[in-house]
Amino acid sequence: MHSQKNLAEVTIEDFARLFGTTADDIANSCKELINTMNFRYERLSSTERDKLILNILKRIDSTNLGVSGEERKPEWERGWTENLHDFVDSGYDISKLVPKYFKKNVPVRLNREYVMPVDPDFVLNCTKVFRNWIFNKYLKDVDSIYEFGCGPATHLAFLAGIYPEKKLYGLDWAKPSQEIIRLLAKHFGWQIEGRHFDFFAPDANLHLNENSAVYTFGALEQIGRNHEAFLQFLLKESPDLCINVECICELYNQDCLLDFLAFKYHKRRNYLDGYLTRLQELEVEGKIQIVAMHHQQFGNIYDDSHSYVIWIPKEK
Ligand SMILES: C[S@@+](CC[C@H](N)C(=O)[O-])C[C@H]1O[C@@H](n2cnc3c(N)ncnc32)[C@H](O)[C@@H]1O
Repeated sequence: MHSQKNLAEVTIEDFARLFGTTADDIANSCKELINTMNFRYERLSSTERDKLILNILKRIDSTNLGVSGEERKPEWERGWTENLHDFVDSGYDISKLVPKYFKKNVPVRLNREYVMPVDPDFVLNCTKVFRNWIFNKYLKDVDSIYEFGCGPATHLAFLAGIYPEKKLYGLDWAKPSQEIIRLLAKHFGWQIEGRHFDFFAPDANLHLNENSAVYTFGALEQIGRNHEAFLQFLLKESPDLCINVECICELYNQDCLLDFLAFKYHKRRNYLDGYLTRLQELEVEGKIQIVAMHHQQFGNIYDDSHSYVIWIPKEK
């Protein structure tokens, strides 16, 4: 049970700080969304915090922790097949597409602390608020939007709601993702298409539309150091804007305990590595312009998964 007097709350101003902006940059629709949800939480006691840190250290050391890469593909196929079945069995309820890795009733990372939320869907709800802010701010001026590594396409479903006039594309190496998108197009009448795509071997026959934006959301995480092929694909296709919402390990401050733990966990799982550094090299070479980058100090127990870098290829 949470005792009322120890509860704190993530306010609109706190969300703005988390996103690296100010409250007046948050659209009214996003503020309204925040007001419909419960963002109260309790700080952990020092005993609870020690126990959690011990468990994280043990997990980092455990031998059966899966690492990202080619061999995880069947796991993604299995996961999205489950969501696909739940979606169809429910009569096309979009909430059934939410990935099952959103765990309920567990502590979360917030502003370099661990806290225990009141609402079991705290992480999912913060994700909804963040995507509302970032997609409203950065995607309004393009005609086509591509999500690479879109999985069950929940972000694309959100985009179809706010931008019904835009063409949406969802790409993933897992086949059930394309079936989910086919059903979304059929049952909701959205302008959305799914297509097979592998970050490790980008499809040379895929050409992006004029006036388009590309984004990834927790997908490059899965490719470790193997980001060059995808980057070269983007440089060649030269979309008008690229947004990567990812755990970006260069942004952790390793003199800070929670960042250090997240960095260790990130490395242990072979998550995205050296991507920001490579973008910064490309900027020095005059090939891209970095518009914004930000360490969002929020995530599940293990890492801050919603940091972002926004950039523009210069070859248009
Ligand atoms: C953590 S999920 C994120 C899914 C989605 N972006 C979201 O936020 O709900 C990672 C996604 O990346 C995809 N993925 C992993 N490695 C990939 C690769 N080499 N090529 C294409 N997709 C890949 C997985 O199939 C999965 O859908």
